Amino acid sequence: MPASNFTERIQTFYDESSRLWEQVWGEHMHHGYYCSDGQYRVENPQEAQRVLIEEILNWSDVASPKDILDVGCGIGGSSLYLASKYLARVTGITLSPFQAARASARAKAAGLGEHVQFQVADAMKMPFANDSFDLLWSLESGEHMPDKEMFLQECYRVLRPGGRLILVTWCHRDLTSPHPPLTVWEKNHLANLYRLYHLPYVISLSDYEVFARKLPLFDLKTADWSLAVAPFWSDVVKSAINPFVLLDIVATGWKTIEGAMAIPLMMEGYRTGLIRYGLLTGIKE
Ligand SMILES: C[S@@+](CC[C@H](N)C(=O)[O-])C[C@H]1O[C@@H](n2cnc3c(N)ncnc32)[C@H](O)[C@@H]1O
Repeated sequence: MPASNFTERIQTFYDESSRLWEQVWGEHMHHGYYCSDGQYRVENPQEAQRVLIEEILNWSDVASPKDILDVGCGIGGSSLYLASKYLARVTGITLSPFQAARASARAKAAGLGEHVQFQVADAMKMPFANDSFDLLWSLESGEHMPDKEMFLQECYRVLRPGGRLILVTWCHRDLTSPHPPLTVWEKNHLANLYRLYHLPYVISLSDYEVFARKLPLFDLKTADWSLAVAPFWSDVVKSAINPFVLLDIVATGWKTIEGAMAIPLMMEGYRTGLIRYGLLTGIKE
């Protein structure tokens, strides 16, 4: 499929589904964190989502960034969180005009309008000069990128020397020896997820690491948090089992219905070890 068609599909998906997501699940469009063993039980998924952000920041050893780029910012959940925490300037980019407008309105309502700005822009070709930011935050947007290595190169380009890259993204399991290649069942499972969530493809965390090592980044490290985040999907299901939410999902349109249909695929993907949740961080030399 040509890249522009794919971009339009992602844009329509988030334009159509973001209002409902915010209404039911809140401002963060990403997994929650349930302790490293996945056993921690929370009152609601939103709490687990805030914990995830804090855990990522701790794990990455973030200092005190002043110019942050939130790549694939959704409706600005992370952007506003990071702006308040670090009193930093934050720029968020998304493919969805609905999300950019909603994120801007939320920043204004939170009194952060002067520090945080959002725009529609493609992460594969960002409208920013080299060396612009001291923290690049990409939380669950990498899986949408049509060329993962070019995406990493583009993130690296806009980071200042000494700036930190944080990439958290959906992956598939490791395929390097001694791990076996993907089975037919796994390939079909991934193909269904790609179609329903508008993902070109995903790669393994070790593939990301190979790309990152070429950049160069120092203090590079990776982690697999699949166990810690997988319970999120049962929480999503629990909150959707409500006649009003189900009606709203149907009313929002076919792409959102398909997004809901993909939830069991994610659960199964984690259960079988096919879907992995990968983190990568490093500092630009
Ligand atoms: C699952 S949402 C995550 C949103 C946000 N990071 C959060 O955690 O709440 C994925 C986001 O990636 C954005 N995205 C996907 N492909 C993109 C691209 N090529 N350029 C910019 N944003 C992109 C979507 O528009 C959406 O905002």
